[in-house]
Amino acid sequence: MAKYTLMKTEGRAKRAQFETVHGTIQTPVFMNVGTVGAIKGAVSTMDLKDIGTQVELSNTYHLHVRTGDKLIKEFGGLHKFMVWDRPILTDSGGFQVFSLAGLRKIKEEGVYFQSHIDGHKIFMGPEESMQIQSNLGSTIAMAFDECPSSVASREYVQKSVDRTTRWLERCKKEMARLNSLPDTVNKEQLLFGINQGAIYEDIRIAHADAISKMDLDGYAVGGLAVGETHEQMYHILDEVVPHLPQGKPTYLMGVGTPANILEGVARGIDFFDCVYPSRNGRHGHVYTNHGKMNLFNAKYELDSRPIEEGCQCPACQHYSRAYIRHLMKAKEMLGMRLCVLHNLYFYNHMMEEIRDALDAGNFAEYKEMRLAGFAEGK
Ligand code: GUN
Ligand code: ZN
Repeated sequence: MAKYTLMKTEGRAKRAQFETVHGTIQTPVFMNVGTVGAIKGAVSTMDLKDIGTQVELSNTYHLHVRTGDKLIKEFGGLHKFMVWDRPILTDSGGFQVFSLAGLRKIKEEGVYFQSHIDGHKIFMGPEESMQIQSNLGSTIAMAFDECPSSVASREYVQKSVDRTTRWLERCKKEMARLNSLPDTVNKEQLLFGINQGAIYEDIRIAHADAISKMDLDGYAVGGLAVGETHEQMYHILDEVVPHLPQGKPTYLMGVGTPANILEGVARGIDFFDCVYPSRNGRHGHVYTNHGKMNLFNAKYELDSRPIEEGCQCPACQHYSRAYIRHLMKAKEMLGMRLCVLHNLYFYNHMMEEIRDALDAGNFAEYKEMRLAGFAEGK
């Protein structure tokens, strides 16, 4: 069984460790996103070890539609397939179905939709999502949820959240059944529930109270960073996180910028994930202590400095801004790869500094110092 140990708090911020069958996760942590079982930008799982990745995140929906979770189970599970022995979290497919799939119909039993690859008809409900995640054998499976639009009516959001609660009960039951089968890839697979409720704080709070009673392995706050302002997101975290168990991991899904992460940690979040560092890296946008920098800018043409002075990432240890800019302009894959490696290292390293600051009891000061630096701009 997984064990969450809260080691230190500062205000609402938590410094903890989470022991799983695939190793111990030190939190707060940023999970590196490898949607289809690979970090975009030609970054391998060997690279991930070099840049301090603790947890890799993949997607149920994408792996189900291509190459197929049954094949991955036959191979021995996602860990063996992608050669990664540390924790993997899989998202349930709910969110991806809503953001990617073609025509879809939501019913009590689940969602009917069309594959974004070839248009074929697929049904996914709570049981199917758990079965796919069980076939993948991830460390942590996410509950199958609906993420309502940030502009959905109060009436719709209430109906949707009630259904997400019923889906969560079905997920829990199915996960227990799958974990007890003899040929399951990871019999200790964990299940995190997901809080929803858009921007309606009373709906969110009632939902958080209801799912907290279900004794899950962890709790996520979903449905954020989908169009609301940063202030609305921080306000919802202020309201909701106190209604989730302090003695279990908390996860803010799909968030965010380095500043969003600092604010999330301050509000009691343990886990984060976001495509920003890899997506921005692929476009030559790299993170520094003084904000983002666009390497396509002509002023870096002859700049012999690394992206960030003192950065210990594989890109900054060897290469200049001028050379990486040249690679990006020439559309050489190495350019993207170096930018993505730097960005993921930047995020992972910031999380390490956050943990150190919490250990030392000076997170509040660290946070202010970082926010001031980002605001200076490049
Ligand atoms: N990723 C980002 N937001 C969400 C969400 O609300 N639900 C799920 N399942 N994944 C997400
Ligand atoms: Zn670097």
